[in-house]
Amino acid sequence: MSSSPHSQDIESFCLKLPKIELHAHINSSVSEKTFRELLRKKDVGDGQLASVESSVFGPKETTFKAFDDCFDIFPLIHKVIDSPEAIYKVTSDVIAEFEADQVKYLELRTTPREELLTSMTRRSYVATVLSAIKDSKKKNLDIDVRLLLSIDRKSTVKIAWETVLMASELAADSDRIVIGIDFSGNPKINDAKDFIPVLAHAKSSGLKISVHLAEIVNPLESHQLVEIVPDRIGHGTYLHPEVGGLQESVEFVKKHKIPIECCISSNLRSLSVAKLKLHHFGYWYKQSHPVVLATDGKGVFQCSLSGEYILAAKAFQLSQEELWQLSEKSIDYIFADDKTKKKLKSQWAEIRNSKFQKTI
Ligand code: IMP
Ligand code: ZN
Repeated sequence: MSSSPHSQDIESFCLKLPKIELHAHINSSVSEKTFRELLRKKDVGDGQLASVESSVFGPKETTFKAFDDCFDIFPLIHKVIDSPEAIYKVTSDVIAEFEADQVKYLELRTTPREELLTSMTRRSYVATVLSAIKDSKKKNLDIDVRLLLSIDRKSTVKIAWETVLMASELAADSDRIVIGIDFSGNPKINDAKDFIPVLAHAKSSGLKISVHLAEIVNPLESHQLVEIVPDRIGHGTYLHPEVGGLQESVEFVKKHKIPIECCISSNLRSLSVAKLKLHHFGYWYKQSHPVVLATDGKGVFQCSLSGEYILAAKAFQLSQEELWQLSEKSIDYIFADDKTKKKLKSQWAEIRNSKFQKTI
């Protein structure tokens, strides 16, 4: 990273910028600090402990050698975050960490998980995450947190239906924390087509859906998923024809103005994108298509949302005004209601007047 005055200006600007985070998986967002604290409490031998630690938080250059490697890391993280106490701590810490990075509105997502060893059920898992979110509200943190329940494509269609049913029940609660469904997991496993009826049902029953798609070159599957008209697309790395996608998919996404969640560090670290300047953020941004920067897993991919803005600014020469607009426009793509959008817009206006008048 160059240390020219301009680049320092951009860095401090991005750190101060109010931000919206829309793509953050809870377990892969665990910070190194929280992870180490949880590991220390676990009854595992030193060797095992060291290997889990270095696999998850080893030097950047050594963690991932191939795209699939991150999917070997997630089960290791799950082994450490395997009880209601641990998931409560991780959720609370992740919220506080995003708030410290000037994130004002956060959509977390997580896969309801059962752990036989600790008698955690999928329902008690979600109840714990919700109680951590509700308790964070009581701490008067300056952040509005919502939740999407994730469907892992490596699990079963039956579990996917149960997840949608659970999300629908919880979405009817007056606190409106649960607002949608995420479809994620290793894109090389299972046929996403089998999950389309579940996702379509979720959407038609009023839940918002964000779908990971085109993380690898798979134009037919990507097009089938695009045709559900997800409310947002996770990654969409290989959607456009220059990288093996279909022009038809691009036209469809543009016609329906489906926002794309761009996770630059995640894609670089997991080797799904070879070089910063080749990131598909540039392809969509240049066409004024809705895009939102996101971290995906700030722990596993060792990044922050401010850092994502800094990377985008450097790679695509974004001015401070363009960075401001990028963050402010993200409000339009949140899954919460219009009242929340209006509140955030006035919060952005107020912050701009009070803290950015002299800089932008
Ligand atoms: P959790 O759902 O909170 O346990 O977060 C980790 C899970 O998110 C992983 O097991 C994957 O199913 C999913 N996930 C995280 N990052 C990615 C990604 O980049 N692509 C697809 N799925 C992902
Ligand atoms: Zn993701």
